[in-house]
Amino acid sequence: MPRISVEPSDRASTKSTYIRTITATDNGKTVGKTIWTFSPTQPGAIQIISIEVDPSLVRQGIGSRMITRLFDESTKRSKSLGIQLRRVWIVIEQKTHITARGFLTKHGFHHVKTIDALFKDEAAMVYVKSFD
Ligand SMILES: CC(C)(COP(=O)(O)OP(=O)(O)OC[C@H]1O[C@@H](n2cnc3c(N)ncnc32)[C@H](O)[C@@H]1OP(=O)(O)O)[C@@H](O)C(=O)NCCC(=O)NCCS
Repeated sequence: MPRISVEPSDRASTKSTYIRTITATDNGKTVGKTIWTFSPTQPGAIQIISIEVDPSLVRQGIGSRMITRLFDESTKRSKSLGIQLRRVWIVIEQKTHITARGFLTKHGFHHVKTIDALFKDEAAMVYVKSFD
């Protein structure tokens, strides 16, 4: 079973924007990665920049383990800063990230907006999970 780790370890006192990464490794090989960011100007709203699993290992629960860890870490960090975690959001590519739609829905996200003119050859879809 892949090992899940988070970097950098939480710096509760840091109020500036910073990026964290969750890595899933199996026998030293990276099999999944999730990157997300906290911004002090948007307290309580956390953006997932990307989440991906090795294509040969999808649908084995690795993505779910990473996103569950992200929710746990985000909740912990928000509490340590005295902030209510309100939203976790992600923008996906409409054509390229088809499997992500079912994945995000399963984890409580809702599709809130499609933006046509953002990416070059396809629309962008905004998904949001609410915690309040
Ligand atoms: C989206 C992604 C991260 C999911 O990771 P994963 O390890 O496959 O996810 P899990 O095994 O935890 O699957 C959880 C749920 O996601 C959905 N899901 C995953 N793969 C799916 C597929 N091929 N078709 C339909 N639903 C799928 C299902 O609801 C699944 O639950 P179930 O197996 O109980 O039906 C992975 O498919 C991926 O890397 N996709 C390409 C990159 C991408 O689209 N990233 C998102 C935007 S950056």
